[in-house]
Amino acid sequence: MMSLLLDEVALATLRLAEAGVESPRADAELIAASVHNVGRGELHTVPDSAFDARFWAEIGRRAAREPLQHITGHAHFRYLELEVGPGVFVPRPETEVMTGWAIGRLREMDVAEPVVADLGTGSGAIALALAQEVPRARVHAVEADPLARAWAERNVTRYAGRVPYTAGRVVLHAGDFADVLHELDGTVDLVISNPPYIPVGAYVEPEVGEYDPPAALWSGPDGLDAIRTVERTARRLLRPGGLVAVEHGAPQGTAVYWVFPEESGWRNTRNHKDLAGRDRFVTAVWPGRPEELT
Ligand SMILES: C[S@@+](CC[C@H](N)C(=O)[O-])C[C@H]1O[C@@H](n2cnc3c(N)ncnc32)[C@H](O)[C@@H]1O
Repeated sequence: MMSLLLDEVALATLRLAEAGVESPRADAELIAASVHNVGRGELHTVPDSAFDARFWAEIGRRAAREPLQHITGHAHFRYLELEVGPGVFVPRPETEVMTGWAIGRLREMDVAEPVVADLGTGSGAIALALAQEVPRARVHAVEADPLARAWAERNVTRYAGRVPYTAGRVVLHAGDFADVLHELDGTVDLVISNPPYIPVGAYVEPEVGEYDPPAALWSGPDGLDAIRTVERTARRLLRPGGLVAVEHGAPQGTAVYWVFPEESGWRNTRNHKDLAGRDRFVTAVWPGRPEELT
């Protein structure tokens, strides 16, 4: 026989499905697990007497299309559990793939302490994953938005004292990524960014449009304004042989490829796909200024 809680989860699944939530069963289970402070696979262990009205309050919020991660208060990103909420972009699985690419390149880099710049760090997701998974790396994380930066500060502090320690290896910088980190010009081994890239006026789901901060989403008429800025900053920051990785929207693969052309000095510009097989990020090598190549 089903437990009362699992009956409630089944009803909640229907309610979320009717509200247009994309993964209603998973979200109902994750909310129940968070309310009862157990893992998703342990819901059958919750005693019937422990049923909590908070569950239905939170299902109501999710049915109103508040993001699951704002309701539970955290988002998973690679090996991290990050604190998120109003004012910060919820990290996405697509970005884990680009971060994994960067981790692979940093691990094979013949540099004692590779220097990384994460432009537009939001919750600190990319910066902290790199610091956690590549302990030699020194990561400079840049964020312009003070609200988002406050979340990044919480997460950097949270992971500083946890094994594997990231303390002192992620440095947060306030500022516009067009004009920061001048002290690192020509010395950075890897520039990585998941900048805003949605064309102004494009349709987005309510969870995105009403809860992710506008500065994390919109980027000019073709969505490429911030990526063009990241390209210019990467040229300034990278040492010869340094790498850049930039996330973009699925339809932007070709356009972003041409933001990193050989004419500007870039080499080995490559498109990469996400787990759903859609174009998702571009990488390129900075061999030096064009005049230095001959
Ligand atoms: C799409 S979010 C990505 C956040 C995080 N890197 C992630 O992947 O979850 C983009 C972030 O870039 C920040 N941002 C946008 N334009 C910026 C700029 N010119 N300078 C610095 N940060 C910027 C936004 O505030 C936002 O936090």
